[in-house]
Amino acid sequence: MNENINPDREEILSWLNEQDEERLTELWRQADAVRREHVGDEVHLRGIIEISNRCSRFCRFCGINASVVSLKRYTMTHTEILTCVKIIEKYGYKTVVLQSGEDHRMKTSWMTSLIDLIRKNSNIIITLSLGERPGRDLAEWKRAGADRYLLKFETSNHQLYEAIHSGRHEGWQKRLEVLDILDHLDYEIGSGIMIGIPGQTWADLANDILMFQKLKLDMIGIGPFIPHPGTHSGRMYLSGMFNEQQVPNDEMTTYKTLALARLACPETNIPSTTALHTLNLKHGREFGLQRGANVIMPNFTPVRYRVLYDIYPGKTEVSETFDEIDRSVRESIRLLGRKLATHEGTSESFKTKHAKYSTGIPVQKFLH
Ligand code: 5AD
Repeated sequence: MNENINPDREEILSWLNEQDEERLTELWRQADAVRREHVGDEVHLRGIIEISNRCSRFCRFCGINASVVSLKRYTMTHTEILTCVKIIEKYGYKTVVLQSGEDHRMKTSWMTSLIDLIRKNSNIIITLSLGERPGRDLAEWKRAGADRYLLKFETSNHQLYEAIHSGRHEGWQKRLEVLDILDHLDYEIGSGIMIGIPGQTWADLANDILMFQKLKLDMIGIGPFIPHPGTHSGRMYLSGMFNEQQVPNDEMTTYKTLALARLACPETNIPSTTALHTLNLKHGREFGLQRGANVIMPNFTPVRYRVLYDIYPGKTEVSETFDEIDRSVRESIRLLGRKLATHEGTSESFKTKHAKYSTGIPVQKFLH
């Protein structure tokens, strides 16, 4: 059967509203076939280290936003982070993701020397996920040896983006600008959305998928919105304020979006996210991998910090040991008859872009 790569808005909307299980089986089949053809059977493991839960932003959906004064804040030391990196490397993973809140007090040079340290002591791809930072910082970190950057746009609806962010921030356009700078700096860029944000409609979700395509992303993270009772969006959700076009924050909608993202962006790396795993502890991760995903991002933050990285409730892997986490991930891959990737997993779309455009890293332009 012919796989429908590049679905248009109407097809996307029709799939998003599909309820018939047999028809949906066809969507899963198409997404799986496109995944196999374009990125193969290998599953890439990226070890996440939540290096700090300090945050200067007031994102209304997020449990570590700056207004949550009751949360104990931490920042890991360079030595602690390096120890985790070495462990991730020992387990055979090829990528580490250094993730934190958007902390405006985090010094540029602190991160630069951390990247230096990792570069000197290990042979691992470095992905950063530190929120919006000035082009100068991003350029310096690229020069120091960072390879990839994750920054979700959360929703393509500008008004909804405004509604879920409060405090001083520069809006949706700024986020797109940062993604553009990252692209110019030759980072592999990852972005993504949440499914079921209070106020999000089906039309918004269709536009999100088209936006993935437009941004030519190397990685796409798609996770359900999980209400945190300590946040504004969480309370709004729990009070049941919805209209009839409201997208549910459920498993099925997440799978549909994931599968459609795969059809729209065949070469992109797409994780089966922790948030999805949270919705269905038993099969969420495997279903994700069978419906378009080719990446898993296990958590390698020390347990004493992991519990404090409280972006949403019920996060999985909060108390498991590294051994348990690694074993369970390998078991999922084995059960599905897939293979553990043996190479660094640069996105196929990045390789294509790189071959076409890259004439050297234009870092200098951003350093002034
Ligand atoms: N539910 C789901 N995902 C969330 N994130 C933050 N808060 C939540 C939540 N309540 C995700 C956002 C953000 C990333 C750091 O975590 O997509 O970009």
